[in-house]
Formats: sequence, C-alpha cells, structure tokens
Amino acid sequence: MLLPDVSLRLESEIAAEIAARGPIPFARFMELCLYHPVLGYYTRGVGGGGGRDYVTSSGIHVAFGALLARQAEEMWRRAGRPEPWHFVEFGPGEGYFASDFLREAARNGAFAAALRYLLVEPSRALQERQRSRLKGRTSIPLSWVDEQGLDGRAPLVGCLFANEVLDAFPVHRVVGSADGPREIHVVVRDGGLHETLLPLSAPALERFLAESALTLEPGQEADINLAAPCWITWAVSLMKKGYLVVVDYGHEARDLYAPQRRRGTLLSYHHHRVNEEFLQRPGDQDLTAHLDFTALRRAAEARGARCLGLTTQSRFLLALGALDFLPVPAAGSPETGRAGADAVRSVREREALKELILPGRMGDTFRVFVLGVGDVPRDLAGLSRPWARSEETAATAPLSPPRGASSADEQEN
Ligand SMILES: C[S@@+](CC[C@H](N)C(=O)[O-])C[C@H]1O[C@@H](n2cnc3c(N)ncnc32)[C@H](O)[C@@H]1O
Repeated sequence: MLLPDVSLRLESEIAAEIAARGPIPFARFMELCLYHPVLGYYTRGVGGGGGRDYVTSSGIHVAFGALLARQAEEMWRRAGRPEPWHFVEFGPGEGYFASDFLREAARNGAFAAALRYLLVEPSRALQERQRSRLKGRTSIPLSWVDEQGLDGRAPLVGCLFANEVLDAFPVHRVVGSADGPREIHVVVRDGGLHETLLPLSAPALERFLAESALTLEPGQEADINLAAPCWITWAVSLMKKGYLVVVDYGHEARDLYAPQRRRGTLLSYHHHRVNEEFLQRPGDQDLTAHLDFTALRRAAEARGARCLGLTTQSRFLLALGALDFLPVPAAGSPETGRAGADAVRSVREREALKELILPGRMGDTFRVFVLGVGDVPRDLAGLSRPWARSEETAATAPLSPPRGASSADEQEN
C-alpha cells in the first residue's frame, strides 16, 4: 500500500519516539495521529470538510443547530435573561453548527443581544474555515478562544456544548488476561509499527478500573478514555451557573464493557469506509471510540454538577420541534421545469432530517448528555416527553392502540 507523504513522515516521527523512550501506549499513538502539531489528522482539518471521512449531525441538516438554539434560548429565558449569557462551542469543525445556531438565535432580538458565542478550536486549519463560513453572517459577538483564554473568562453563566468532540480523545486499549489487565502498546518491529501487550502505563488507569469496578475477561478488550472525564471536570469548573451539553455516541459502563463486547468500540474511518487498521495511514484517517457516560457522570457529580438527562438525539430533537423542519411539498410549475428540482430537494431534505432523528440511524446512535451547574431548572424542553401524552391518549382510545410503544420510548434520565 502506498502511504501518503504525511503518513510516512508521521510514522517515522512515531518510530523515532519509540526508539527514544521505548514502546508507547496506544493512547499516545492516537494522540499523535490526531493532534500532532503539524501532521495530525484534526490539526490539518482533513476529515470533515468535503465530507471526506465522516459527516456529523451539524453537516447533515440545519435543524440540528437551530433546535439547539431553541434549547439555549429556553435556558437563558428561564435563568432570568442574564446578560451576558455565554454559549461555548467546543470543536466547531466546519462551523455549520454555529452558522445554523446563530441564524435561529437572531430571531429573538433580546436573546441575540445577551448572547456571547465562543468557539474553542485547537486546529488552526479548521479555525480558518470556521471564520470564513461565519464572516459577515451575524451581528452576535463571536470570539475564538483557547482553553487558557476560557479559564480567564471563568466563571461563566451560560451553556457549554460539544458535538462529536470527546469521542476523538485518545483512548488506552486495555485487555484482560489471567494475570490481570494489560495495555496495548505500539512498537517498531521489522521496520513497521506493531501492537504488543505490556503492563498498564499509568496508575490513573488502575484507578479508573477500580472506580468502575471493571474486571475484563481474558482476551476482552476495552477502550479507556481517561481524557474525557478530566475534560468534564475542567468544563464544570468553568461554570458559575448553567448547563453542559455533550452529544456523542456512547453507552453506560454496564453496556460498554459488557463481557459479550469482546473488542471495544474503537474504529477508524478513511474515505467513509470503516476499518480496524488502527496503525495504518497515521495522520490520514479518523480514529474514534464510544464514550462511557457513567464515567462522565461520575466526574461531573464529583465536581458538584447534576446529571439532568441522558437521552437519545432523536427524543431530544423531536421534543424541541424537529418535525417543524419537515419540508412542505413544493408547488413548482411544470412550465419552468422547477417542479422536478423542487421535489428532489424536498426529498433530500426529508431524508437528511430522517437521518438525524430515526432510530437505527443517528437518532438513537447518538446520545444527548445534559449536566446542570448551580441552581438551574432541570425540566428543559429537550428532555421533556411530549409524545408521552399522545401515547396515553391513544392507549385509552377504543381503536388503534399504539403498536410498539414500548420501553424504547422511555426516557433514560
Ligand atoms: C469530529 S469533529 C466534530 C466537529 C463538529 N463539532 C461538528 O459537529 O461537526 C471533532 C472536532 O473537535 C475538535 N477538538 C478535538 N479536541 C478538542 C478539544 N480538546 N477541545 C476543543 N475541540 C477539540 C477537532 O479539532 C474537531 O474540530
């Protein structure tokens, strides 16, 4: 296989680091692949732009950003309309979410006047794209800040938001054995990168396994994302009063580390193809693993935050009015030839919205995890169950009882 120049260069840097300090934990390898200061996959901003390797909810349909703006407006209103009120977006990627959010937020003049939108993006390349997408589009004040800059603005009143950011943090790959847990490290052998099992690389991993009461069966592999709970602890510490909303794929620990899940959830994406060749194409493919929401909740609660809900993206967006975005069939005229084009556009939009909300698609793969900091209302619109009322009405009706209205419709919070 012919490796692109960037992968060859990164591979030789990784090999040099291994030569200097010995085998490196897989988490360090993943950190270099994604965030090497020059050659990293996210540093270079290659993946999402033209939809090369992945597409996120933000890039699929405007409803995602717009509905989150509706949710944010309710948070602000019920907090007593404070000014300034901060919305901090972490990892804004291509800037689609910010663009849709800001357009919707501008519909309420008082909210727009109070809103300060902060973007935290470590990649210069992605920051440039965000700036050019958002330039001249809004009168709401925008600022790009780094983590230190954000520390300087704390304590904040508002909402912190991250969509598909924490799943891209480096993971330690731990494997059960008869002699206890071992960790996958990367070594150089026969001129190439290979995996090898060694003792755990950090006491923090042992603490994590103990806190999670996690015992892996021999041969069972788990991806341990130590960085995500640390990030949650830091994010909660930034807030005086408000919310932290994380949207991502993940599970509670009991499901994520269940013995039947033998090989963890780590995956690589290259040109929309999923693969498990984690050591291949360093710096030129995405690497991502599911989140452990139990560990995130534990970290948040230890810092004084409250978990207000863990629900599916589908329920969250539907509760906020996702169906308002269903396109109205266009009345085009056959003379102008518009009818066909408008119908195609309308079908495309409908399909995109379905992708966001349908179970089996992003609707239930993605979860919305909501934390409250300080004394804030917990009954947010996005966590409500408007469909429960119609189910109850239907259940008492003599005809057409609801089919399949089962535990799948139960809120998890
Ligand atoms: C998969 S993209 C998601 C993009 C975007 N949130 C969306 O909805 O399309 C991951 C993003 O997280 C950023 N990122 C990675 N680590 C980060 C961190 N510690 N803080 C903020 N952003 C980070 C990456 O540079 C990239 O912009």
